[in-house]
Amino acid sequence: MKLLIMGPPGAGKGTQADKIVAKFNIVHISTGDMFRQAIKSGTALGKEAKEYLDQGLLVPDEVTNGIVRERLVKSDCENGFLLDGYPRTVAQAVSLDEMLFDLNMHIDAVLNIVVSHSLLLDRLTGRRICKECGTTYHKTFNPTKEFDVCDRCGGKLYQRKDDNIETVESRLRVYNNQTKPLLDYYKAKGNLFNINGEQDIDKVFAEIKTTLGGLK
Ligand code: AP5
Ligand code: MG
Ligand code: ZN
Repeated sequence: MKLLIMGPPGAGKGTQADKIVAKFNIVHISTGDMFRQAIKSGTALGKEAKEYLDQGLLVPDEVTNGIVRERLVKSDCENGFLLDGYPRTVAQAVSLDEMLFDLNMHIDAVLNIVVSHSLLLDRLTGRRICKECGTTYHKTFNPTKEFDVCDRCGGKLYQRKDDNIETVESRLRVYNNQTKPLLDYYKAKGNLFNINGEQDIDKVFAEIKTTLGGLK
């Protein structure tokens, strides 16, 4: 199964992506995670990406398309993948179509997680992530049993650098201006599925499973 997951910052893309890739045994490809990893490792890509992530702006299309192309040609993608946070501009979607054509692949479904803007600010500013295993929590909506300690591995939690109010507002603006228009691109292709992202995390996942189960 080859899938895209879309939605505004804080919609729950990463949260649902973890569940989807575990259930369907496919690869999770998150451009945001790839950039954060590059920043952590101090690579040239990381140095370039950091300026954009810190301001809540998009990394230039050529750079982003390049890292996705390098990832999609790896053999573990043949069995299936979930692209999370890519594409984010119409130019990226066109580039992805070219990559898929070259690889003789097609996208089975585009999942669009719908959440109203008023909820997103709280979701993002309250997000906490495990330093060790990367599990995502929320201090109110999905708290750990022990304060600031990961339930899964005992690691310490941290807050993403771009989860402060100013940067979140910039990310939401960028989403509205540059990414939202993409929904029409996929609607026209006929494989866009809107998912209600305002339900409990498990209910959102149940809706996704029903949607994917009804595909063929
Ligand atoms: P990226 O990492 O993709 O960030 P984003 O799109 O802003 O989305 P988030 O990861 O913040 O949110 P999410 O939808 O994954 O929500 P989550 O599941 O964590 O990108 C970061 C940056 O990288 C960009 O700003 C840009 O600079 C760059 N970049 C990345 N891709 C790019 C591209 N293609 N082109 C150019 N630049 C790119 O959930 C959020 C919180 O809500 C969590 O605390 C969670 O516990 C909670 N939550 C989740 N679901 C629910 C629920 N149902 N109910 C209550 N709480 C919930
Ligand atoms: Mg995410
Ligand atoms: Zn952990």
